[in-house]
Amino acid sequence: MIGVFDSGLGGLSVLAALVRTLPGADFTYFADTAHVPYGNKEDEFIQGRVLDVGADLVAGGCGLLVVACNTATVAAVQALRAAHPGIPVVGVEPGIKPAAQDSRSGRIAVLATEATARSSRLKRLIEDHAGNVEVFVEPCPGWATHVETLQLDDPVLAADVRRRVEPLLDRGVDRIVLGCTHYSFLSPLLRGVAGERAELVDVAVAVARQAQRLAGQLAHGNGRLHLQASAHPERLHAALPRLHLGHLATRLVAGIA
Ligand code: DGL
Repeated sequence: MIGVFDSGLGGLSVLAALVRTLPGADFTYFADTAHVPYGNKEDEFIQGRVLDVGADLVAGGCGLLVVACNTATVAAVQALRAAHPGIPVVGVEPGIKPAAQDSRSGRIAVLATEATARSSRLKRLIEDHAGNVEVFVEPCPGWATHVETLQLDDPVLAADVRRRVEPLLDRGVDRIVLGCTHYSFLSPLLRGVAGERAELVDVAVAVARQAQRLAGQLAHGNGRLHLQASAHPERLHAALPRLHLGHLATRLVAGIA
């Protein structure tokens, strides 16, 4: 079993890529919906949640963990690895490297939660991989919550997306890194604003490939999916069709945990 987790629905964008890459694997997806969003919380709190959720997934039989959340990864992936030395852990970090490599204008933007935006790990990623480009880091408070409540067409959100992204485009940014897994579900909105001026950079497929490299025998299961949540698990099931992930429902193991 491969354990995948996020504060809520955002990691489902990573799960979709994982299922495409590892169709025979069994997955447990855990959404920490009792504590979503993580992005406006303190690092110690996020770290505590990641360690608790990780321990539960390992106790439940997961032999590989995918932290499908940038905020949780920057705050706690090292602590999680240290807590489970025998279990491979794949984290999700903003795609600074591919964005910097592919940028023609030499200007890229990262959209992220407040916690990711202020993290030293993001700073280090930028230093290590984007020395040759200018990087604009834009915290986007509230966006993950809009996704969580499935208010994807809310005009207030659309206005905030324009307000934050248009100035970046005016500065010549031609790559926009989705530094939060929830924002994958805002891609249509973001593409509508960016038009031809910038491409979105989403690392879900790269994360799935990394998991595939580490999966070993876990790649060969029954193609089942368990959905679990710390609050309102039924909403996870209901969200699948709204997020255009209805195809995942055919893999679901009956029963809500
Ligand atoms: N999906 C998460 C991320 O990738 C966090 C969103 C949140 O809980 O604030 O950062």
